[in-house]
Amino acid sequence: MSLEEKFDYGTFEASLARSKALENDLGSHPEKYRVLTGDRPTGRLHVGHLFGSVQNRVRLHQMGVETFIVIADYQVLTDRDTFEHISENVMQLTIDYLSVGINPNDGKTFIFPHSHVPGLNQLLVPFLTLVTNAELDRNPTVKEEIQASGQKQINAGMYVYPVHQAADILFCKANVVPVGKDQLPHLEMTRTIARRFNNKFAGNKPVFPEPQALLSKAPIILGLDGSQKMSKSRNNAVMLSATEDETANLIKKAKTDSTRQITYDPTNRPEVSNLLLLISLATGEAPEDIADRIGDGGAGQLKKLLTETLNEYLRPIRQKRKELESDMGYVRGVLLSGIQKAWDVAELTLAEVRKAMNMEI
Ligand code: TRP
Repeated sequence: MSLEEKFDYGTFEASLARSKALENDLGSHPEKYRVLTGDRPTGRLHVGHLFGSVQNRVRLHQMGVETFIVIADYQVLTDRDTFEHISENVMQLTIDYLSVGINPNDGKTFIFPHSHVPGLNQLLVPFLTLVTNAELDRNPTVKEEIQASGQKQINAGMYVYPVHQAADILFCKANVVPVGKDQLPHLEMTRTIARRFNNKFAGNKPVFPEPQALLSKAPIILGLDGSQKMSKSRNNAVMLSATEDETANLIKKAKTDSTRQITYDPTNRPEVSNLLLLISLATGEAPEDIADRIGDGGAGQLKKLLTETLNEYLRPIRQKRKELESDMGYVRGVLLSGIQKAWDVAELTLAEVRKAMNMEI
């Protein structure tokens, strides 16, 4: 079998259709699924993350689906030179997860940095033999990240991190991965690796499932400066950890337009519409109705309403963050038990993998 011929980065439509069917079944049979999600520990979470992907995870968690959350600390080394803050970022990310409602005390939720789980990382070695350089080179998300990194030299880790990501997902045989569109190529690669592993080594006893993407219905949230994406580095993001005053100041400076009448019109008035969308996500009220209520109150009224709404929405989350920050022993304990569980699961999988590959002694 040539590795090249079977691989396809897939279409968005195909993924979306699969994702819809999956969404229906998850609600009725949570016990059939194991979810794996993950983030790079590059900073704290902001409301773009919260409304974008994190709430979707909390929802799955609350359905009672078993969930592994990998903090991809090795991945930080692929597109930047700085590593001073990794450990601090891991702790802060964990605090963010816990404060928005992920509760590992249910015994079904495990949070761990992958650098602490040797068995997981070891899967990378056989997995690398199941993809070609040409396939790695074609990954559209990696191409974009290489462009965005601004680095003159790209390390090999950058090209192979999607294979590492396959190890993140397959070590625990996860069958559902909630992702945004940008992660679909990586998931397609994971599915291919699972399939190729099974075909090549596992005969009629497949070792790995082919995990499915669960595409979040999440809206795209722009930065407060109206630029494409909310992100901490662009200084256009409301962080979960910000104070109420910081939030107010940031929103005060948000970009709007000069039309006094407030309307929801994402195409022609992206900035104003983005602020309306944020209010809507926090209150559940339709953005059109919010716009009607503000009427000709202008950007001032809109910003005032957003500030109040967001600060109120984030208040319990921020309160919880504070409590956790003064109880770092608990936070560390959450990670240690996540690592323990991931370690055990990884060793079991690795034993099966060695057996399949004829490497038992
Ligand atoms: N690549 C993901 C990102 O950049 C993070 C990640 C690492 C991940 N491992 C994962 C996401 C496994 C989902 C599943 O955001």
